[in-house]
Amino acid sequence: MTMDATRQRFLMCRPTYFAVDYAINPWMDPTAPVDVDLAVRQWERLREVYLDLGHTVEEIAPVPGLPDMVFAANGGTVIDGRAMAVQFRDPQRADEAPAYRAWFEAAGFEMYDPKHVNEGEGDVLLAGDHLLAGTGFRTAHASHAQLQEVFGYPVITMQLVDPRFYHLDTALTVLDERTVAYLPEAFSPGSQAVLRRLFPDAVHATLADAEVLGLNAVSDGRHVVLPEQATGLAATLRDRGYQTIGVDLSELRKAGGGPKCCTLRLRQGKANR
Ligand code: ARG
Repeated sequence: MTMDATRQRFLMCRPTYFAVDYAINPWMDPTAPVDVDLAVRQWERLREVYLDLGHTVEEIAPVPGLPDMVFAANGGTVIDGRAMAVQFRDPQRADEAPAYRAWFEAAGFEMYDPKHVNEGEGDVLLAGDHLLAGTGFRTAHASHAQLQEVFGYPVITMQLVDPRFYHLDTALTVLDERTVAYLPEAFSPGSQAVLRRLFPDAVHATLADAEVLGLNAVSDGRHVVLPEQATGLAATLRDRGYQTIGVDLSELRKAGGGPKCCTLRLRQGKANR
């Protein structure tokens, strides 16, 4: 296993206008109070963790009235200098798509527009030379063919079956070029068989870890940033030789998001993907 950390370039969006005023996943309860100041502090801590690890963090300006815009992973898919914009399933998030698209365009990425519902890196994860693409709740199966055409990586469809793990990045995390961690029961039997075939050495997470969004983690190949509540998963990852860094994103979890949701990977070119 390679344990070399690769420097990453991330895009994040400060949760200035964060709120839970609609429910589009089972985590969201619009009647429960949200502490926006705490959300901002927790987000700032996550950003500092990345900077301390030597990564670069770009910021997109938050837009009033778009409370979920903090979840930058849903803003696009960016691989080898190409950016595919997104199309949200839910109208509440629709206006985030052009905001992110404009950012990618200004940053000089080659732009591609989605033909079907596609929620970006929330459902599209590059694992070695495969693109794992989730479907079942958000991203449409039809978009998987477009992802393959745009990026030129073989796309492997992953059927998600548990509404709590509605985006692929809530059920599976890429640890390095060769390995992933995932919650088997969040996937259909066929997808579980595919995962076993592709990743025989994968870490199998427990429901307890997934229920605190432990799989919504960000790895640079060596350091894994994950919710601090996911203690079992962190111990397993340390046994495997990874360095774990726990962060508390309890306020953002009220919207169904964790560290990975707040983080979009900007992959410039083949040398630095
Ligand atoms: N409230 C947001 C939604 O339901 C959370 C998005 C989390 N993002 C992610 N990449 N899993 O769309």
